[in-house]
Amino acid sequence: LPTPCALVEWEAVERNTARMAERVSTLGARLRPHVKTHKCVEAGRLQVRGHFGGITVSTLAEARLFAAAGFRDITYAVPVAPARIREALGLARGLERLTLLLDSEELLREVERCSAAQQVRASVLLKIDCGLHRCGVDPRTVEAVELAAACSRAPHVDFRGILTHAGHSYGCRDREGLRAVAREEREIAVGFAERLRGEGIAVPEVSIGSTPTLAVAEDLTGVSEVRPGNYVFFDALQVALGTCALEDVAFSVLTTVIGSFPDRLVVDAGALALSKDAGPTHLQPGCGYGLVMGEQGVEPLRVAALPQEHAVLLPRASKDLRRHPVGARLRIVPYHSGLAAALFDRYVVLKGGEPGEEWRPVRGL
Ligand SMILES: Cc1ncc(COP(=O)(O)O)c(C=O)c1O
Repeated sequence: LPTPCALVEWEAVERNTARMAERVSTLGARLRPHVKTHKCVEAGRLQVRGHFGGITVSTLAEARLFAAAGFRDITYAVPVAPARIREALGLARGLERLTLLLDSEELLREVERCSAAQQVRASVLLKIDCGLHRCGVDPRTVEAVELAAACSRAPHVDFRGILTHAGHSYGCRDREGLRAVAREEREIAVGFAERLRGEGIAVPEVSIGSTPTLAVAEDLTGVSEVRPGNYVFFDALQVALGTCALEDVAFSVLTTVIGSFPDRLVVDAGALALSKDAGPTHLQPGCGYGLVMGEQGVEPLRVAALPQEHAVLLPRASKDLRRHPVGARLRIVPYHSGLAAALFDRYVVLKGGEPGEEWRPVRGL
């Protein structure tokens, strides 16, 4: 295989998707998996097995790909930019449902204006903040209730309920911390939904979830659906968090040694193949940019520098680097599989360790 090359281990994807589907069923919620990590139809089909078929996307490009592949119920889980509303509503026409996210009065006004102009009703979820402090209204405020009420009154809006994402789970230090974030994610969402229902607002959907919180969640009472995504591939960050084992990681980048020096190796997978995610520095300050894998497992090498096309690997202890001559192959498991995977226009799928089919992810936004 020419390098750098994105490898996907089919057996791991199959196992990861089956496990999550079963876990979510056992916990009594619907699975609306996120496809942002892999952005390809083949993995999406594995994710929805045994569930209702709804998915979550992070870009309209993903929405278009999956709509064309027959997925009928899609949630676009990023607050929609005003300039993309028309396009999103146009895409929704051919589907059972394309749900948009909003978290401000301005956005509600724009969605209402565009859907009135296009003579459609926009399916909408209100994004609430459960601690990530990125997007979303603060569910403790009166303004949050007022915005939900305004959504439910808007004539061209079909208000579906609320959505939150505990992305701050990635900053946890241990399982106890993860459990606390998972509990809060559920309690904040369900508590807010109850508050809205108390005000006479119908809230059919309570949508929560991330891979780390679903790895530890014990109770999903009151939650209608969950949206994990990273679990399809997992990555070195999930290994560090303890939410998967190294053998569960389905995505890696095959690379070739192009420089072998007494004190360092240079390989052909730089930031353009691995991304430049700093990894779990809060858990492992010297972690570098990924786990280097050789034939025997993890190599004592740190991905120390990532210019555009090269990576510089330094030995973690004084080691003989001559066993990795120019031309030798290594695999690197990145800390953020979604970012690294997004740098490739194809993944080579390994079945039984042998390269077989290729999956073509969608690119663009
Ligand atoms: C809104 C939203 N929902 C769900 C997810 C999936 O979370 P994870 O990738 O941890 O599975 C993400 C990921 O970024 C997200 O932004």
